Amino acid sequence: MLDLRNITKVCPNGVVANDNVSMHVKKGTIHAIVGENGAGKSTIMRIAYGFYNADSGEILFEGKEVSIRNPNDAIALGIGMVHQHFMLVDTMTATENIILGAETGSAANLDLDKANADILALSNELRLGVDPKALIEDLSVGQQQRVELLKALYRNAELLILDEPTAVLTPQEVEEFFGILRRMKEQGKTIIIITHKLEEVLAISDEVTVMRGGKVVGNVKTSETTAKDLARMIVGRDVLLRVEKTDALPGSAALEVKDLSVGGKHGVAVDGVSFDVRSGEIVGVAGIEGNGQTELIEVLAGLAAASSGKVYFEGKDITNLSPRRIKELGVAHIPEDRHKRGLLLNSDLAENSILGVHYRAPAATGAGFLDNSAIQKRAKEILENFDVRPPIVDRPAKSLSGGNQQKLIIGREFQLEPKLLLVSQPTRGVDIGAIEFIHRKLIALRDAGCAVLLVSAELEEVTALADRLLVIRKGKIVGEVDPKVTSTEEIGMLMTGGN
Ligand SMILES: Nc1ncnc2c1ncn2[C@@H]1O[C@H](COP(=O)(O)OP(=O)(O)OP(=O)(O)O)[C@@H](O)[C@H]1O
Ligand SMILES: [Mg+2]
Repeated sequence: MLDLRNITKVCPNGVVANDNVSMHVKKGTIHAIVGENGAGKSTIMRIAYGFYNADSGEILFEGKEVSIRNPNDAIALGIGMVHQHFMLVDTMTATENIILGAETGSAANLDLDKANADILALSNELRLGVDPKALIEDLSVGQQQRVELLKALYRNAELLILDEPTAVLTPQEVEEFFGILRRMKEQGKTIIIITHKLEEVLAISDEVTVMRGGKVVGNVKTSETTAKDLARMIVGRDVLLRVEKTDALPGSAALEVKDLSVGGKHGVAVDGVSFDVRSGEIVGVAGIEGNGQTELIEVLAGLAAASSGKVYFEGKDITNLSPRRIKELGVAHIPEDRHKRGLLLNSDLAENSILGVHYRAPAATGAGFLDNSAIQKRAKEILENFDVRPPIVDRPAKSLSGGNQQKLIIGREFQLEPKLLLVSQPTRGVDIGAIEFIHRKLIALRDAGCAVLLVSAELEEVTALADRLLVIRKGKIVGEVDPKVTSTEEIGMLMTGGN
């Protein structure tokens, strides 16, 4: 279906994103691409989709050499792509987003009723359950992704490229999503999927291509490989696929939450929760996404207001203080949405590494002026300690690959040596080597006496890291369990309310 031959792409900053990459994707198969953050996975697929142009090399589609200069060329051939970060307009309906740019004829004879009907038929055929007339902002992330899929299918894509489609999905949504991919494969479609999750590669793909440092380093049939082998090919060494830690030695309560409630878009998001986090322990929050964990963390970080209840940090009432005041007390926050809350994408890595603490030492002098050499020094430390690649301080944050952006945020917050860390989805989008690294850093922070409140949609991650686990459902804490003795089935039952 797709044959990439000797593709090379050098970025404006001189980074060789793709170095003589060749890849052979068979028609009617699901082909996975794996590799470290910055390995060049998104770049090679953006070249196949015409989003970037290669410096050299050839592309063959269904056996014929083709020239794909832009996405329109790709779409005309029957290639569709769903990007790592969605590109939908929030205030428009699903149908409006889908037909955007694909309208035939003038605006006057744009037939919205027909488009709605066509899209509903497509959605039903694959059992996507998308309401064509729903506004994007009212849809869950999982549903938004299905809209992206429909957008490609509506343009008659025969080859679908999916860049980390499961990174933002809950485990249940991943199951359903894989069902959809299998149905598409039965219809004869070809699918390329980029993912960091090896169990997903093993569950869904027929073949796997492994990339490292811009090159293809391996190509295997999924039935002939294991997670361990893939991990070794990806990182170039053996990787610990589980978390190693000793028992926690908790001290006094750093964070105390008393009967806290928070309003949400649709009623009460957090409904009278009480718990504490002691220094030297990791308290996990497990729950299906959308059950109040986002709002809970935002209130604790000062980014949203509590409607009632109290939050104490080291015995001091910090309810509804500003994010800056809370941060100054020694509370760090690693947000779930790194584009919205974590980074200034157009600013360079140096500026991003002092975000939130730019007004005080060491970033600023006593007189309130920015101390550039101190900022550069701090940025370099963070980039080095957290293995952000490439470690060039004056590059914009948007030039980093997705996983490296995450490592930068984590490094910045850890560098503050917090007494309390609020962290959501710490390893979303990062490669397996970096996951191992981030897990170790979290444990080390705990062992240094930091109190950690961890929210993760990955049940495996939260049970492996947490010393105590709170289960949240519909804004309420419905149970506290010891992750060492409680099975994931039991936790799952609490999360879903037994359904
Ligand atoms: N627009 C750009 N400007 C400069 N450098 C870029 C640009 N796009 C990508 N790069 C660089 O090219 C390399 C490959 O990036 P790419 O996004 O393809 O990695 P990836 O394998 O998709 O990583 P991830 O798993 O983190 O998404 C990286 O070193 C990245 O910094
Ligand atoms: Mg990528």
